[in-house]
Amino acid sequence: MPDIFDVLTEDHEEVKDLLAKLEKRPRRGASGDQMAKRKKMVEQLIIEESKHEALEEMHFWPVVRDKLTDGDKLADKATEQEQEAKEVLAKLDKLDSGASQFEKLLAEFVESGREHIQFEETQVWPNLRKALTKKEATEIGKRFRDGKKKAPTRPHPSTPPRPEMLKATGPAAAAVDKARDAATGRGSGNGAGTTGQTKAELYKQARELGIEGRSSMNKEELGRRVAAAQRKRK
Ligand SMILES: [Fe+2]
Ligand SMILES: [Fe+2]
Repeated sequence: MPDIFDVLTEDHEEVKDLLAKLEKRPRRGASGDQMAKRKKMVEQLIIEESKHEALEEMHFWPVVRDKLTDGDKLADKATEQEQEAKEVLAKLDKLDSGASQFEKLLAEFVESGREHIQFEETQVWPNLRKALTKKEATEIGKRFRDGKKKAPTRPHPSTPPRPEMLKATGPAAAAVDKARDAATGRGSGNGAGTTGQTKAELYKQARELGIEGRSSMNKEELGRRVAAAQRKRK
């Protein structure tokens, strides 16, 4: 069973992969198609980030606060970074890839997003790994993964990043986000990773890649696991 660090690593790798792709600015005179693809990739980044940070705020930072002596300090700093990221992503979400602010905001996020991941992986994880039993780490990992289905897909910077607040308002916000996504086609067919493939296609790939537990996974989870396995192979 994957533990919380496995689950977080999988998310971080996916985000880092998107950041690396987005870092390459489009050439002057890029086609409309290329710009649309870029916007789709940014949407995917916003969706993944929104879910990830909301879930960390619900299930991860409370554990850090509880288990580490300097946990409050670490969680405060990380939550502040996450809040700033949400502000940037919320602005980015409203812009077209041709808008003058788009590339500036994106470049800002690429840098701060990497810094935030680095902070979590190097300043928080090592001590937390020591402070948690394998059983605890696995349970938190499961809560995080289970939460994905009900996590918001938009940044919601005006919701205070407190676990009780997010647990109370998160599922309703997520339902609204998902309905809006479905109505607008947001987050689908972005040409990055596995999005746009059918569940059967993903299942076939999961079998070829030897991903365990694939038969009980939904489409979203299959997509994530296949993308993660493909990244490892590169
Ligand atoms: Fe985070
Ligand atoms: Fe994270």
